Amino acid sequence: MKILVTGGAGYIGTHTCVELLNAGHEIVVVDNFSNSKLVALERVREITGKLFEVCETDLKDGKTLGRVFSENQIDAVIHFAGLKAVGESVSLPLRYYQNNVAGTLTLCEVMDKFNVRNLVFSSSATVYGQNNQTPFRENLSLNGTNPYGRSKLMIEDILQDLHSSNPEWSIALLRYFNPVGAHRSGKIGEDPNGIPNNLMPYISQVAVGKLNELQVYGDDYETKDGTGIRDYIHVVDLAVGHLKAIEKVILDNGIEAYNLGTGSGYSVMELTQVFENVSGQKIPYKVVKRRAGDVAESYADVSKAKRELNWQAKKGIVEMCIDTWHWQSKNPNGYKCTEEAGAFKN
Ligand code: NAD
Ligand code: UFG
Repeated sequence: MKILVTGGAGYIGTHTCVELLNAGHEIVVVDNFSNSKLVALERVREITGKLFEVCETDLKDGKTLGRVFSENQIDAVIHFAGLKAVGESVSLPLRYYQNNVAGTLTLCEVMDKFNVRNLVFSSSATVYGQNNQTPFRENLSLNGTNPYGRSKLMIEDILQDLHSSNPEWSIALLRYFNPVGAHRSGKIGEDPNGIPNNLMPYISQVAVGKLNELQVYGDDYETKDGTGIRDYIHVVDLAVGHLKAIEKVILDNGIEAYNLGTGSGYSVMELTQVFENVSGQKIPYKVVKRRAGDVAESYADVSKAKRELNWQAKKGIVEMCIDTWHWQSKNPNGYKCTEEAGAFKN
């Protein structure tokens, strides 16, 4: 199959490209590199030994996107492209709605024009909002707690409407829990801009000596040790979930949401402890007040993905930390220096 991957140069996109290529699919990557670097795709090429087309464009540029569809016989689209920083979305809501919502509208218009109606969309566990009981099931009521989360909800609604208007649309809404880890080669991984907002990249940057200490956002939650609980999922498991979702959208028409998580929750202190053990590095930390908008716990009911996609996560918390540490210690500055040195150019 030939699959268009929007946002394919990003963290989850690169790992998914590797799995798609290894499974024998052809891919075309569309990315504007607003939050990624070309060298990440060179590494994908290196890992897989396969060539693929890359088109540098913004999703909102329908003309260029149309050219990509007219030059390629696309069977399905995996749509990762989006902005994802919760805090930034609060200060720049229009940028988030413009990029995430308007970008998706353009993509869907172009897909419709070219009669490509198989779509896998990157949604997020953030759509479960703040008042739901864990484990989160797909049929819970949804609510957005910030512009980023609302952009995901809006897109889910738009895609539902699209399917109602034409049942030929076949769509999987994948609600990711907390993606962490890296490819076992250590060649691709998460490379956040500036100081990371998320826990795992923060811990790994403390471990490698780039940051001094972890701030633990609250130890007074009603959880086993008072710190927040999340469902961390290895990015390679997540990538494999996309392969399963593509198979499903190709076979059946319809629109379905699926949680992609492990179904198990770990606290901030537990994750920090496992990371210390696997890296052999001390992670100094200080408990500070809760971060606004955080929930005490978030983990998935994963039974629907198991039942309908025949997918379940295989990698545990130790492997997630080992692979994160491998990537971080091999690439302390992410993709930056290697790109400058051109070490990974073919
Ligand atoms: P990422 O920022 O690493 O990757 C997103 C990619 O999309 C980047 O390469 C970026 O340059 C590109 N992009 C953004 N806007 C674009 C546009 N208008 N046109 C073309 N390219 C554009 O993020 P990621 O962690 O790989 O996340 C991928 C998707 O999964 C996002 O939609 C994100 O909201 C969603 N998601 C991520 C997480 C997470 O914790 N990483 C959790 C839930 C959902
Ligand atoms: N945390 C800290 N210190 C930090 C960062 C995080 O204590 O420096 C804590 C948080 O309070 C939370 C846990 O670590 O309890 C995980 O926080 P993350 O920021 O790593 O992840 P979130 O669950 O808050 O959010 C992430 C993405 C969202 C996405 C959500 C569900 O940032 O975009 O997962 O997929 F919506």
